[in-house]
Amino acid sequence: MTHPVLCTQRLILRPLVAEDAEALTTLIDDYEVAKWLTVVPHPYTHADAEWFIADQAKNEGHVWAITRDETLMGVIGDVRELGYWLGRPYWGHGYMKEAARAVTTHWYDTHASDPLISGHFLGNAGSRSVLQSLGFTDTHIEPAHSKAQDKEVQLQRMRLTRAAWEAKHG
Ligand SMILES: CC(C)(COP(=O)(O)OP(=O)(O)OC[C@H]1O[C@@H](n2cnc3c(N)ncnc32)[C@H](O)[C@@H]1OP(=O)(O)O)[C@@H](O)C(=O)NCCC(=O)NCCS
Repeated sequence: MTHPVLCTQRLILRPLVAEDAEALTTLIDDYEVAKWLTVVPHPYTHADAEWFIADQAKNEGHVWAITRDETLMGVIGDVRELGYWLGRPYWGHGYMKEAARAVTTHWYDTHASDPLISGHFLGNAGSRSVLQSLGFTDTHIEPAHSKAQDKEVQLQRMRLTRAAWEAKHG
């Protein structure tokens, strides 16, 4: 399978490459980013980034580097569920809504009627807003483990059906 490159008005979503390791480490070695994620350790090392990038070979076509003007700003993927993060310097510019909309469009272009699953830790207002803007609605709350926080947290599960997506964006 080839890895699609997704283009939006401001962003290019492309495959991660080994050369991204340094920028990725700088952006995600930030507790304010990592604390909202399940599997990301804190602190985060260059070796963690190298391992993560190499490991994405198995997810070809499902994980993208979010870039603007060739600068890496974050990562988004639809492996099993929609997940994403942006480095703190890039918050608050509407980038994630733009990136997530592109990935969701791609999902429904390639997955017929499968619903898309996602979720956020309780209290993550920014992520909730991104998901609601796409048309996601709540399903249930379940416990999850945050590696960076090293504790159990409450995860609000959400779901987007093709019908809800098309009603909002079709
Ligand atoms: C959550 C995150 C992806 C949002 O990215 P972003 O590009 O800043 O979001 P956007 O600029 O597209 O904003 C989306 C909406 O959320 C709102 N929003 C963003 N951050 C917010 C916050 N901290 N509190 C409340 N609302 C917030 C914005 O106002 C916007 O709503 P609007 O369009 O109605 O004004 C980013 O803050 C991030 O990566 N955080 C750390 C990692 C993370 O939480 N990942 C998701 C795990 S589920």
